[in-house]
Amino acid sequence: MSAPIIRPLSQMRGQIRRWKGHGETIGLVPTMGALHEGHLSLVRAARERCDRVVVTLFVNPRQFNNPEDFARYPRTELADAELLGPLAVDALFVPDAAEVYPPDHATTIRVSGVTEPLEGTHRPGHFDGVATVVTLLFNMTQPDAAFFGEKDWQQLQLVRRLVADLQLPLDIVPCPCVRAEDGLALSSRNQRLSPQARSRAAALPQALFAATRRIEAGEPVADVLRAAHADLAAAGFDPVEYLELRDATTLGDPVAGRPARLLVAAMLDGIRLIDNTAVTLRT
Ligand code: PAF
Repeated sequence: MSAPIIRPLSQMRGQIRRWKGHGETIGLVPTMGALHEGHLSLVRAARERCDRVVVTLFVNPRQFNNPEDFARYPRTELADAELLGPLAVDALFVPDAAEVYPPDHATTIRVSGVTEPLEGTHRPGHFDGVATVVTLLFNMTQPDAAFFGEKDWQQLQLVRRLVADLQLPLDIVPCPCVRAEDGLALSSRNQRLSPQARSRAAALPQALFAATRRIEAGEPVADVLRAAHADLAAAGFDPVEYLELRDATTLGDPVAGRPARLLVAAMLDGIRLIDNTAVTLRT
């Protein structure tokens, strides 16, 4: 059986009111669809923690800085609903673009600081779109907790900052990245890799894991990153948009003794892949 699809916002709001009226907690898993095991792991975490689980499916036009990328984004609503059925999802909320952004919509949420480097530099406007839609989805579904994957590390830090700064009454629950057997982080974009590109894509996590080990062993960061760049170029990644070691929370410069993160974005055969790993820096 498929998960029940809820469409107009009025129906979603009515359902949320009834659940809250019974004192039930709500877990939200925001998605853009084309669901894979990574999303399902977020749903399982929500299922464990909350009485009701709402998954949203909305391909948010405002977070695509390239209209072609938006047009080509996979849309697989019925398959998504089927995949969620066995996980006892209470609602797959699929809002209409006109309900999310009515024609007179004039508000953008911008989080500064954490959004500025890395993705912020390479995808101008992307995080404003994410912050705006996430705030709207929170307001529409009133969750007690929302579940986000660590695969989109910078997005996760943005959402944490947003919730803290706007004093939104919900918990943000980070969930570990889910990887394919060869190490490639699961992503809806992986579907668009040709079989040849897919077979080369594991070079990305391999370079990341190797660089992480070398940095943790105390090798100079600049040397390690240069070598990792060269490995990625040799595997056909072009361009490597960034490969940087950052403070895990602020995304500023790494600080010895604080959690750090190594983050990468690179194109393979025209498909943009991102990934990241935790790095423990020596004090
Ligand atoms: O991570 C995603 O799929 C999207 O950025 C999100 C959080 C659903 C907002 O559109």
